[in-house]
This record gives sequence, C-alpha cells and structure tokens, in this order.
Amino acid sequence: MTLLIKNGRIITASDDYVADILCEAEVVTRIGPHLDAPADAQVIDAAGKYVFPGFIDPHVHIYLPFMGTYAKDTYETASRAALVDGTTTLLEMCCPTRSEEPLAAFELWKSKAAKSACDYSFHMGVSRFDAECEAQLREIVNQGIASFKVFLAYKGALGVTDEELFKTLSLAKELGVIVTAHCENENLIDALQKQLLAEGKTGPEWHEPSRPTQVEAEGVHHLMTFAELTGAHVYCVHTSCRQALEKVQAARLRGVRAWVETVIPYLTLDKTYAERPNFEGAKYVMSPPLRDAVEQPTLWAALRSRLISTVATDHAPFDFAGQKEMGRDDFTKIPNGIPSVENRIQLLYTHGVCRGHLDLNTFVDAASTQAAKLFGLYPRKGTVQVGSDADLVVYDPDYRGKISAQTQLMDIDYSAFEGWEIEGQASVVTVRGKIQAREGQFVGELGHGQMLTREPTHFN
Ligand code: URP
Ligand code: ZN
Ligand code: ZN
Repeated sequence: MTLLIKNGRIITASDDYVADILCEAEVVTRIGPHLDAPADAQVIDAAGKYVFPGFIDPHVHIYLPFMGTYAKDTYETASRAALVDGTTTLLEMCCPTRSEEPLAAFELWKSKAAKSACDYSFHMGVSRFDAECEAQLREIVNQGIASFKVFLAYKGALGVTDEELFKTLSLAKELGVIVTAHCENENLIDALQKQLLAEGKTGPEWHEPSRPTQVEAEGVHHLMTFAELTGAHVYCVHTSCRQALEKVQAARLRGVRAWVETVIPYLTLDKTYAERPNFEGAKYVMSPPLRDAVEQPTLWAALRSRLISTVATDHAPFDFAGQKEMGRDDFTKIPNGIPSVENRIQLLYTHGVCRGHLDLNTFVDAASTQAAKLFGLYPRKGTVQVGSDADLVVYDPDYRGKISAQTQLMDIDYSAFEGWEIEGQASVVTVRGKIQAREGQFVGELGHGQMLTREPTHFN
C-alpha cells in the first residue's frame, strides 16, 4: 500500500517541522515539502495535526498466569486497544514460573500473539537459573530477543534468588542483553503483609503500607549493586517514587549502566484511589503501589530531565468482578495490576504536554524513541525518517473526549480513569504503512502484527 501523509507537523525526539511523508512497501521512502501523490496512493490530509512516530509500550502483560488467575486480555483485544491510542509496538513480559522451561514458555507466549494487530516483541522472563535454563536463554537471544526480565518481588512465585540474579546479569553482560527488573524487596513485603494482616488490616488501602517507598528503593539499590558488580545494563521497570530514583541516580554516578521506566498510573493516580470505600480501591491495586501524590512532581521532573527514560503502562488487566474480588477479605490476594494500554498516550499528552510538564519532543522520546533505542528497535521504530517502518500517528490536538469502560476496547469490566477528560486523539494510526486505527476506532486487520527480532546492543 502506498500512503501519502500531507502537511503534518512532524515531531520526533529532536525535530519539529512541517512536511509530507510518503510510505511505500511498509517503510517511509520520502519526506519533504509538496510531494506528488503516486497514482495508487491513499492521501491523508494532516494539516493542523501532529505526525508522531508510532508509540512503543515497553512493558505490558497480555498472557499472564498470575496470583491464581489469568490477565484478562488477549492479543486480539489488547493490540486493538493499543492501536486506537497510537501504540504500534508492544513489548510484553514473557513470564514463565520456576517450573517452566524458558523455550517452552517463549513458544507459548509467541503462539498467544499470533493474531496481534500491532507489532510486538518480548522481554524474556528469567525465574530460575541453571545450566539448562542458561542454554535455552542463549537460544532465545539467538532467536531475536535482546532483553531479559527479572522479578525481585513475588516471593515464591516469579522472584529469583540472589545467586540466580547474579548469574542472569552475568549472562546478560556476556550476551549484550539489557535486563529489565521489578525492584521491591520481597522479604520485607512478606514481613509487612503478615504484620498488617495479623492486625486485622485486610482492605486494599493496606496494599501501599505493605510495600512502602523504602521497600522499592531497597530493591532498586539491590539491583544497582548487582549491576555494578557484573557490568550488566539494567532497566528499572515501573518506578514510582523519589527514593527509588535517587538510588538509580547515585548508581549512575558510580558508572552503573541503568535506565528508568515509569508508568502512566503513577503519573496520574495516587494512593487515595486505592483507599476508596466498598472495596473499589481494589481496582487500583498494583505493585509497586500507587503512591502519595507528593511523588508526582518528582516523576514529572525526572521525565523532563530524562532521568526517567520511558513511560510505559505495565498493562495488567484483571476484572473487578470475579478477579479483583478474590482479595475481598485479604488485600494480598487481589491480583495486582491496572489496565491502561488504551490510555497511555491520551493521558500522557493531556497531563504531560497540555499541562506543561513535557514538551512535544520529550513526549515522543519518552513514549517511543527511548524504548526503541534501549531495546534494539531503533531506527526501524521510534522515529520518522526515510527507511524507518511506516508506523505513524496522525494526532488531532483539537479533539476532546472522555474515557469510559463502556466504549473501551480492552476486555475489562472497569476503567481506572472513568469519566476523565482527554485532550487530543490519534486520528490515523499506521503499522508498516497500513491504516489500523482511525478516530478511536479499530479499522485494520488482526494478524497484521509481526514479531520483531532484536539484536543485542548493550556491550560496553
Ligand atoms: O501490579 C503489577 N505491576 N502487576 C503486573 C505484574 C508486575 O509486577 O509487573
Ligand atoms: Zn512488576
Ligand atoms: Zn509488569
């Protein structure tokens, strides 16, 4: 398909200019003023609109057996939801349990993604490390997966031991693979949960006190120590607070190669949502927890200064009815996660750009370019330039709307942002030159998404 996007204001992480973009055979082939439309071209008038590179969500869960249940979405629902918001690439956590073999898990996760409407890849979860696992991880990296995932939380489930962490980081260093990590001290959480439950504190409002900021900061410090000793490149997922950021900053000054992700719920919600009465707070239980609102100005400042590289979602959808309710009498049994793969860009644009926290270039950098660079996709993804995949988002800044569970494409029975007003909308979304979404509607083809193979890049 040939596509000509005319007169849009093209915004990349570094540039801002008006031009036309010609897309042929899935890639951008020309950028310039007044391009002529080839005879077979579909022409889109983008005058008065932005043209962004397709957004990349570097942290989602779609197939996820977790806390006695399964995350609710499938690739059919989640990829459509991502696309209407302008996200054209998903990086999903492939999360085998200790007893599962990495290669078998990788095959299973790939099979779940076959009908994706957007492009995707995986961070390979490491939940056990022995000789057999190591051989399989090497094979998975050979097959185009350039990042690992470790959990320092979820004791007895997904979490690794210190010896396993050391070996995983050592292998990652050797292979040039970056290690993404959930940083919370699992033993402290275990002790605090037991203490709170023994005191009869069972509601969702006790989730945050069971994993306070110190617990997250301790987890980050732990990871930094291991990264310093192994030389591995590490990426702290879903970072929620100043104390954790300070640990990364201090480690960076010691020479540790560390990057930081935050997620849209921390920028827009706070712990009072998890304190809502009648168990409604369960909708807002995720880990690390939503924090005191005092953390938010720090997160925005860290994004602006680029201490935080990326804004992801950590999309982890569990219905309120039947799933979140599993923890009605015990907050430790509430499946952790907030669905938001459909809301990241509209919320980051509204609350980041329109409220003056982020300029347009930083917005693109945080929501697309940095993820592409860190995870071996750049410049195929993450920018608008000749030769890049024609993943483009024509964005209408004049649109006004409201978020509602009634109209969302995520397969979930609530929205954490119900009734919130949004400014701007992805008006046209293309994946490798094919229009997959228009004006908040999915108009494309399931199965158009491709698994992206990625080369290790983190060697020095
Ligand atoms: O609460 C969360 N974050 N749920 C998903 C699993 C994880 O820790 O990323
Ligand atoms: Zn996590
Ligand atoms: Zn996650």
